Amino acid sequence: MSKNILLILLSALFVQSAYSHEPIADYRSKTILADQSFLDALKIPMTYRHEKTGLGVATITPIMEAKISAGAHLLHKCAGYETISDDSLKRSDGVVKDLDTLAAIIASDAFYLQSPMKKVVVTPKAEIQTAIDEVSAQNLKEWVTWLSSFESRYNRAKDPNVHVVQMQQRIEGLLQGTKWTYKIDLIDHTSTKQKSIRLRLEGTDLKDEVIVMGGHLDSISGMFGSGKAPGADDNASGSSNLIEALRIISQRAPTRRSIEFFWYAGEESGLLGSAEIAKKYKADARNVRAVLQLDMTLHPGSGHLVIGNVQDYTTAWLKDYLVDINSTYLKVTLIPDECGYACSDHASWYKNGYPTLMPFEANTETMNSNIHTPKDVINQMSDFEHSAVFSKIAVIFALDLGNTEIH
Ligand code: BES
Ligand code: ZN
Repeated sequence: MSKNILLILLSALFVQSAYSHEPIADYRSKTILADQSFLDALKIPMTYRHEKTGLGVATITPIMEAKISAGAHLLHKCAGYETISDDSLKRSDGVVKDLDTLAAIIASDAFYLQSPMKKVVVTPKAEIQTAIDEVSAQNLKEWVTWLSSFESRYNRAKDPNVHVVQMQQRIEGLLQGTKWTYKIDLIDHTSTKQKSIRLRLEGTDLKDEVIVMGGHLDSISGMFGSGKAPGADDNASGSSNLIEALRIISQRAPTRRSIEFFWYAGEESGLLGSAEIAKKYKADARNVRAVLQLDMTLHPGSGHLVIGNVQDYTTAWLKDYLVDINSTYLKVTLIPDECGYACSDHASWYKNGYPTLMPFEANTETMNSNIHTPKDVINQMSDFEHSAVFSKIAVIFALDLGNTEIH
């Protein structure tokens, strides 16, 4: 992993420690994250040093900033530091306290990347091919049409659970006749009145190991969040991908590991539902082996069947796994891309030490620009065959990772 990526990742996560140590209250000062050796060389005092990563936090004045820029140029660095903004403070507020968790993830990614062994070996299986061939673009269109017909799915709406309850009922309807033992519940949160939906499909001999697949069911629009918010792409699309995958998975024999589906609450207001859930899973020492996040899958901004493999807040072996299932089953074009911040619910799991993957509709430059507005509706650009690929990923994630050896 390059140092820059490391810095970006850590910047969001350092926030709390940084602010609790902050000594200066100058409105022009800012809190930054940089290499300790770099800050030491420039004699910039640090408010926090993280041993395992060698990074340090400092609150700097404009004069110090000029010194750092000059120093960075001397050392042929771009900026030499990352600013920890108020914005990132808001985004990760209350979520991350443990930098060691992050250091451990980074270390395990580095270990994986150096090792010649694959964590999971993908071998083509006829029953998985048959299963993914059943994914229906027409079904996806119907689900996205239904979800985007609610005025809004905003977590601060007057009744933020109207669509949640209806969705739960429809999921239950879909499960009639399944051979799986399952449990569906609405999860209450302390940070929002909106509830998340969890569906647990019980595994067989490895039922305590869990494969998580999720997406946010809420939507947002306008300055105050409460405008008409159809959220067709963001994120009726990913929510529908999960339902369509569930239809297919539920008609098959149970896997060895348990599969848990989540439709998260309040993502648009700061990953609210997933933050509480992932934290609780960690506190309860739940053995989640892999987490798939589906958020925005309908707008083929980089081209039909050109799909982003989000590189930040995601885990090396799972990104590799996506490349491997692509060459075995999907046969689309995968392009690496970055959000640049904790942009969706996978970050909640990642920050709690769980392995994550987020395939995305396009690269972030060409993604749907109508999101968070009343214009995020099904339109001529909407491509349900493109979106279908994400349901296929979910089907493979469950049926393959649910059974196969994870080294
Ligand atoms: N669907 C977006 C995530 C996204 C945005 C992915 C851009 C890739 C590129 C998500 O619903 C969202 O809007 N997230 C918020 C952040 C959240 C912490 C409030 C955002 O991007 O502003
Ligand atoms: Zn969004």
